[in-house]
Amino acid sequence: MSQIEHVEKLIKGKQPQEVLRVLGEEFRGEIAFSTSFGWEDQVITDMIFSEDLPIDVFTLDTGRLFKETYSVWNRVRERYKKNILVYYPDRVRLEAMLSEKGPNSFYESVENRKECCGIRKVEPLNRALKGKKIWITGIRADQSANREQMNWVEWDEVHQLIKVHPIFFWSLNDVKDYVRENNVPYNALHDKGFPSIGCAPCTRAIQPGEDFRAGRWWWEDQSKKECGLHITSAAS
Ligand code: ADX
Ligand code: SF4
Repeated sequence: MSQIEHVEKLIKGKQPQEVLRVLGEEFRGEIAFSTSFGWEDQVITDMIFSEDLPIDVFTLDTGRLFKETYSVWNRVRERYKKNILVYYPDRVRLEAMLSEKGPNSFYESVENRKECCGIRKVEPLNRALKGKKIWITGIRADQSANREQMNWVEWDEVHQLIKVHPIFFWSLNDVKDYVRENNVPYNALHDKGFPSIGCAPCTRAIQPGEDFRAGRWWWEDQSKKECGLHITSAAS
């Protein structure tokens, strides 16, 4: 049986909390969860920390996050008394880009935007996932048309590991219900028209009826709007 079949079998028919329990046990030391502190991620963080599951929780601090995001990060520390591992951009690469192109180069071209995401997110992510076999995310199917094409378990060719999205089949209401019922701290921007929250200069609020991810890199073509963290055949 391939590793992916093994994982599929382990979690088949299970609820997210149980998925995390089983995978944490099976892949102790080789499993990590990435959080951007959006409410989907907060649900998973709560499931991991409230039961002290053996899963590393890490964030990619791009250096350009909203103050509200830093605030929820702190509230997580206070609430669960746990550390979140942080991966920060490489100083040398960052200094070179900023010296040459200034602080807001991402608005000038898709190439510049991808360069910035590459330095601030993708390279740190590669370090975070080194030596891991399972990568847990908070992705849900109904976040975008791309994501609807994905599976809750997938092979990640780039990082050579298995990605699992435990709340893939949850609706936004399921997420909100969990947050309310469990009193989970969440990003204040969610109440201000931000369903999807990334870096501050690259995220805006959306209007009612607009696409879930319309506020991310809003000045670019729809088709280009993935940042390189989640490159799959469905998202390319
Ligand atoms: S993105 O590709 O557009 O940036 P999105 O914000 O929807 O992704 O988040 C999807 C998942 O990617 C999150 O549930 C989280 O697992 C991961 N992720 C996104 N941004 C970060 C970040 N800055 N740090 C850690 N994980 C992140
Ligand atoms: Fe840079 Fe914007 Fe990408 Fe953040 S989202 S890494 S600021 S281009």
